[in-house]
Amino acid sequence: MNEFRLPPLAAWLAIGAVSLPVLTGLHPGQKAPPAPADSTDRPRWVVPDIRRIPQTPEGNLIRYGRELIARTSDYLGPAGKVRPLSNGMNCQNCHLDAGTRFLGNNYGAVYATYPKFRARSGTRETIVKRISDCFERSLNGRAPDSTSREMTAMIAYMKWLGSGVPKGRTPKGTGVEKLRYPDRPADPAAGGRLYTAKCAVCHGKNGEGIKAGKSFVYPPVWGPDSYNDAAGLYRLSNFAGFVKNNMPFGATPEAPQLTDEEAWDLAAFVNSQPRPHKDQSGDWKDLRQKPIDFPFGPYADSFPEKQHKYGPYRPILESLKQP
Ligand code: HEC
Ligand code: HEC
Repeated sequence: MNEFRLPPLAAWLAIGAVSLPVLTGLHPGQKAPPAPADSTDRPRWVVPDIRRIPQTPEGNLIRYGRELIARTSDYLGPAGKVRPLSNGMNCQNCHLDAGTRFLGNNYGAVYATYPKFRARSGTRETIVKRISDCFERSLNGRAPDSTSREMTAMIAYMKWLGSGVPKGRTPKGTGVEKLRYPDRPADPAAGGRLYTAKCAVCHGKNGEGIKAGKSFVYPPVWGPDSYNDAAGLYRLSNFAGFVKNNMPFGATPEAPQLTDEEAWDLAAFVNSQPRPHKDQSGDWKDLRQKPIDFPFGPYADSFPEKQHKYGPYRPILESLKQP
């Protein structure tokens, strides 16, 4: 068993500088245009073996945290046995394999990188705050209390997942891949045709998902039970990066079933359909830090909301390089 073995120290030292921003001439808050997230030599995250969660009270808490991530709805959904706080989706719907899958929006970097400054809130955020964000946005609901057993358990699980990751490091393959920006606007009509052909069988003709009893077998991608318009997936870049590597279900980064352009078009289509709205006027106080594909103004530049949402993004990036 070598699941707990750390990546060789030399590898971590050698990649010490990879997270430094490339010198692009963008103004200070603006993120550099994405290089493919995993073109670096960072060590890949070694997922700890769940059979090694100890048989102790702390181990039970970790197992409960994992269970809450995988089957959130059973505990905290509309008919949840602990408290009805969220929309019926599971964290695992977007953080695949309970947040452990390579490029499946996993939690490998969470414990090593929080608390951290996040521009959306303009504050240094704890893991509690970050988890609460996904409850309020991705699960369109409310977060469990910060001192509840549920919150404590999810954090214990993320801590255990990250136990082999040195503080401050982001292993290769964590989170969602940043795809290259396409040179044309993402096309909702083309995305709609792809959706019908490749996605509707599981996610429903109207994006409503498929339920067995009270739980979704296939989660909704739009409509009243889906993530709201303040969620991370509502940004085209996040949606495209997630589906490129993981959808249709069974696709992997090694054997994708979509091209990058198809992933962007699907993102444009799905994120043009109706879904719950959340007031997010307090987000992104520093406009220069707003991601360029954030679909709601105001912006630090003069491009319209439509272009920020669908692209083409390059002219926006170019304009930001002007002194
Ligand atoms: C609809 C999809 C979706 C669901 C459901 C969802 N999340 Fe997320 N989550 C995301 C996306 C996308 C990101 C990355 C967003 C970004 O960087 O803007 C994210 C980021 C996170 C992060 C930060 C990861 C990091 O490395 O910085 C945590 C922690 C997290 N989610 C926890 C949860 C928990 C706990 C739940 C369930 C209560 C949940 N999420 C449900 C989509 C989702
Ligand atoms: C064979 C069934 C299947 C097909 C086909 C499929 N998906 Fe999924 N999709 C799933 C399942 C299952 C999940 C949740 C994974 C989990 O909970 O482990 C999911 C999750 C998602 C999510 C994140 C959760 C949510 O509901 O927002 C998105 C977005 C998504 N799929 C988009 C797509 C797109 C776009 C396509 C077409 C290219 C597609 N899927 C095709 C089964 C499928």
